[in-house]
Amino acid sequence: MSDTNKTATLTIDGQSHELPIFSPTLGPDVIDIRKLYAQAGVFTYDPGFTSTASCDSTITFIDGGKGELLHRGYPIDQLAGKSHYLEVCFLLLYGNLPTAKELEDFETRITRHTMVHEQMHNFFRGFRRDAHPMATMVGVVGAMSAFYADSADVNDPWQREVACIRLIAKLPTIAAMAYKYSIGQPFVYPRNDLDYAANFLHMCFSVPAEEYNVDPILARAMDRIFTLHADHEQNASTSTVRLASSSGANPFACIAAGIACLWGPAHGGANQACLEMLREIGTVDRIPEFIARAKDKDDPFRLMGFGHRVYKNTDPRAKVLKQSADEVLELLGVDDNPLLQVAKELEHTALNDPYFIDKKLFPNVDFYSGIILEAMGFPTSMFTPIFALSRTVGWISQWKEMIGDPQNKIGRPRQLYLGETERNYEDIENR
Ligand code: CMC
Repeated sequence: MSDTNKTATLTIDGQSHELPIFSPTLGPDVIDIRKLYAQAGVFTYDPGFTSTASCDSTITFIDGGKGELLHRGYPIDQLAGKSHYLEVCFLLLYGNLPTAKELEDFETRITRHTMVHEQMHNFFRGFRRDAHPMATMVGVVGAMSAFYADSADVNDPWQREVACIRLIAKLPTIAAMAYKYSIGQPFVYPRNDLDYAANFLHMCFSVPAEEYNVDPILARAMDRIFTLHADHEQNASTSTVRLASSSGANPFACIAAGIACLWGPAHGGANQACLEMLREIGTVDRIPEFIARAKDKDDPFRLMGFGHRVYKNTDPRAKVLKQSADEVLELLGVDDNPLLQVAKELEHTALNDPYFIDKKLFPNVDFYSGIILEAMGFPTSMFTPIFALSRTVGWISQWKEMIGDPQNKIGRPRQLYLGETERNYEDIENR
């Protein structure tokens, strides 16, 4: 952040207040209002943070107009095409692409932490069998602070590092266990000879009774889904993690808070909601009815998997996933699946409809990820857990950045109070 010598002038009741303007390396200038209340006695009002930068960060940048997503400066399509998830994890956590030796060491460290404390198996068994895997994950990740208390001290840099590694390594194991538990199958231990994505498929789909070989094309598609979801600037769940950690809460509790926020259908829960919507539409001839509902102001229905707060041109993650979806569907021989026909036709219809064109509503990452995950054999309830495990590296990188910042302060928004003014308590017999 650099001072620009530019200032903004705010005039209230004839009195002017000069506000410094900062220039980022990319993106619009930012007016610094930190001293506004002390100087002018007013707050600013921005529910939903549509015009407010909540922090400074060097990790991820989105240009919504251009449809660009950069991690530490590298475009997401290059990372998805040439790199792989663990290399991107290193990049997000430490700031640069690793050397071959650094990558090998990092992969070894992650691999050594993939198992969970054996007593966690008992903890899982406390949940109802039909619990949604996201409900289980919120609980189990929060409980990591009980199982891994030796890496929960946020003031110790070594413990912070161990917490990052443990979270990235164990989240696939926890997500797979949540799935296995929900379908009544035995937990499958991680295999350290497999790569990160292949190991996750193994933990989800293998059973002790028979041999399971991971298809390398499916492992590559899985890895790409992880990579495309790795981080996404100051979205709702990341901001939740930052706000939770601003109080000094331990990293496991903060990531559990992020998972809870991600679950909502306007955020990470959209991939499940999108597939459920495609099922509800059912056949291509019913698409006009649902398009009409999405456009009707009096109907709360929205096309799930469409639209984005920041992207107003295209979602670059969706572009990569669309291609991946074609590859996976062809490999699995399911490209004539009726659900996929509905998805393709819905996409085509919406992209040519003036309502969606005018409001700049495009398919987002959740539209295509659901289609691929469905084809791979995941139930819809696992879509958001997969998003959560992929995003853990983004959350923990942003957490690490924030904790390491000497300017870190507890997050404490103000409000526009519209309630009653002070009134006197009435005894119950007089009300
Ligand atoms: N279907 C129909 N209309 C829509 C949709 C949609 N999916 N999305 C936005 N609109 C309309 C909305 O009704 C509003 O119309 P008007 O200006 O007439 O009131 C206008 O477009 C702007 O919408 P908004 O709600 O003010 O925009 P937002 O930036 O607050 O919301 C969003 C962004 C992603 C929550 C929203 O587009 C949405 O609900 N999409 C469906 C859920 C979804 O797919 N979420 C996943 C987002 S990507 C993954 C992630 O980052 O989590």
